[in-house]
Amino acid sequence: MTAQIIDGKALAEELRQSFKSRVDTLTAQGQQPGLVVILVGEDAASQVYVKSKVNGCLAIGMHSEKITYDAAVDQETVLKKIAELNADPAIHGILVQLPLPKHFDEEKVLEAIAADKDVDGFHAENVGALAQGNPRFIPCTPYGVMKMFEKGGVDLNGKEAVVIGRSNIVGKPMALLLINAGATVTVCNSRTRDLKFHTSRADIVVAAVGKPKFVTGDMIKPGAVVIDVGINRLPDGKLCGDVDFADCLNVAGQITPVPGGVGPMTITMLLANTIEAAERKAGIR
Ligand code: GUN
Repeated sequence: MTAQIIDGKALAEELRQSFKSRVDTLTAQGQQPGLVVILVGEDAASQVYVKSKVNGCLAIGMHSEKITYDAAVDQETVLKKIAELNADPAIHGILVQLPLPKHFDEEKVLEAIAADKDVDGFHAENVGALAQGNPRFIPCTPYGVMKMFEKGGVDLNGKEAVVIGRSNIVGKPMALLLINAGATVTVCNSRTRDLKFHTSRADIVVAAVGKPKFVTGDMIKPGAVVIDVGINRLPDGKLCGDVDFADCLNVAGQITPVPGGVGPMTITMLLANTIEAAERKAGIR
């Protein structure tokens, strides 16, 4: 049996269309949702992501701007800019693209963003709220994955879920969301001793480990839902996920492709979080 493909590109487009009227309502009230993205350095992948984030906002009538700094900029300059943006009533969301250059204290920078403008959901206050089961801003990638479960009609309650990856950006918040949804959650990583033991028992596998084709068909339980968060560049220039898609396609029940899976959902949920921030400020939520 061939797995059903959960089309993230189509879902992202559907959601983005549905956001337009919310943006229009806010704009009519003088509260056009605004996102600032801060990029430090010249990392090629980050430049592509930041451009997509800004363009994603503009395409649905939001305000968005990119602020770029040379990799050698000192942290104080960036912290000063964040303080300015925290106080700017026209800005509802602030995002600092990660990774930051080595001389930065990432935690300090993320904590400097006002919690009510932290549309990445990385501030300790927002991480705590998610851990307590009362999320305010959900980190965009795992938030997108939850929307894909919803779209695919995947009931998480009581299911065995394995998350491969333990990053603050994806693995940890993903695990918290699955726990909050009633799944039994195991968090693995690239060094997990017998990964196959865990994945082959799982009804749901979320791969966010950053290793091309790391999850193969023999590791998957027939009929499982396989979500691929990975975006890896192969030597031939092609993109591939953390899942060996061709190998898992005839084992899984549902699967996400790369590209066109989780990727487009991440930016979509960033737009959702920024609109939500503006709605809260306007008293709509
Ligand atoms: N780098 C990779 N993914 C992300 C993300 O979701 N947010 C930020 N700020 N940086 C990232």
